[in-house]
Amino acid sequence: MSSELSPIDKAKFAAAKRAAALVESGMRAGLGTGSTAAWLGRCPGERVRNDGLKIKAVPTSTATAELARSEGIEVIALDEAKWLDLTIDGADEFDGHLNLIKGGGGALLQEKIVATASDQMVVIADVGKKVETLGAFPLPIEVIPFGLQTTQKLVEEALVSMDVLGRETSLRMDGATPFATDEGNRIIDLHLKRIGDARQLALTLNQMPGVVENGLFIDICDRVIIGFGDGKVEVRDIDSGTVENSQVDFAEESNLFADLAD
Ligand code: 5RP
Repeated sequence: MSSELSPIDKAKFAAAKRAAALVESGMRAGLGTGSTAAWLGRCPGERVRNDGLKIKAVPTSTATAELARSEGIEVIALDEAKWLDLTIDGADEFDGHLNLIKGGGGALLQEKIVATASDQMVVIADVGKKVETLGAFPLPIEVIPFGLQTTQKLVEEALVSMDVLGRETSLRMDGATPFATDEGNRIIDLHLKRIGDARQLALTLNQMPGVVENGLFIDICDRVIIGFGDGKVEVRDIDSGTVENSQVDFAEESNLFADLAD
């Protein structure tokens, strides 16, 4: 049961479980990508199957679309939804202003489009994603395949005048071939170690031809739900400045955990 989950998985589950309570019938909701967001897909999925929860979900990747459908959640395109009540997604890092690095799973472009088209973006994360300053996690940027090496070189040159600690870049690979995003683009990871001015960096990167989008989410996230391995959950709201604590009881989740063991 839950004892088979690692403390990090328990923390991710706790955050996702709390976030699932924000989803109400009739909502159009954006569903994020990654292992934490995958937990989220299972929680409303259970409510869709057992409690008649009716939502329309806009997934942020083909992987999330598959998971949502397998959970019985109705999937629609963003252009059909037009605007979303809520988007819930994971993050690779978040700071005290709820600015984020995202894109560890390579879905940052759809994730940013979906989050920006939402009344609210809520991030779910285990406590290990919390940082003082963004940048220890490599910052992903999505670039088009045409002129890839030239774009990479231009990005490296631009980094010289940026307030960052490291300037190495690497093309993300998927085995022997470059990783391809859902849009058929490539990901370059920027190993910056510390980002002094995330806003300026985000603007600079997006002005470069060949760069489609970067993984810095500035002023997009409204709330972060932080999960801990013991089931504790902390909800931080950037607008109200409030912090709310609660507890997830893993023993009550035996159905979900049993499903996973199948
Ligand atoms: C995918 C993302 C993910 O939200 C991010 O990488 C966090 O993933 P995980 O929940 O597996 O740690 O941005 O592009």
